Amino acid sequence: MPWYGSHPYLNEFIRENNCRKILEIGVYNGENARSMVQAAIKNAPPHEVEYHGFDFFSHHSASRVGRKLDDTGCRYKLIEGDTMDTLPEAVKTLPLMDLIFIDGGKSFREAVSDWENSSLLMHDGTGVFVHNVGFSGVGRMVDEISRDDYHVEIFYAPAEGSVALIKKK
Ligand SMILES: C[S@@+](CC[C@H](N)C(=O)[O-])C[C@H]1O[C@@H](n2cnc3c(N)ncnc32)[C@H](O)[C@@H]1O
Repeated sequence: MPWYGSHPYLNEFIRENNCRKILEIGVYNGENARSMVQAAIKNAPPHEVEYHGFDFFSHHSASRVGRKLDDTGCRYKLIEGDTMDTLPEAVKTLPLMDLIFIDGGKSFREAVSDWENSSLLMHDGTGVFVHNVGFSGVGRMVDEISRDDYHVEIFYAPAEGSVALIKKK
């Protein structure tokens, strides 16, 4: 399916901003994870690149995804379970991230939970990309993000649909 896998705008942001700490919510088969890490290691030694991936890992197991990341030499953690449970716990200890890709559950409740937890991991330069803004629950969540506190840019990615890029003001 064209909307699974690598997304050029993520790799571009990673290269332009020297991103080393990457969080992906919704990992699926790990192809996008590998692609983002490969973009990051163009600017940094692999052991300085950290990838954190959250998913149920029910169709593609964490060990299978892990083997793809092992090949890159990066540091990584794959956290299994529903992000409505795992993320609120994880944000207590995760470092601030350079890039966050929200691409997990598409319901309004899941999207709000994923965004609110992600927002706790932003520094001034963090880019948070939200996939599938055309889905009603995801779109409503993006509409409700405070424009006083965040820049929200929505752009169209060919063969994928609308994506939001959120940055702190
Ligand atoms: C669209 S796929 C992710 C694709 C991946 N980001 C990429 O670019 O290739 C969505 C993933 O989110 C996961 N997911 C959906 N809802 C979730 C939830 N509530 N908690 C954890 N994972 C969830 C699914 O298991 C699926 O693997």
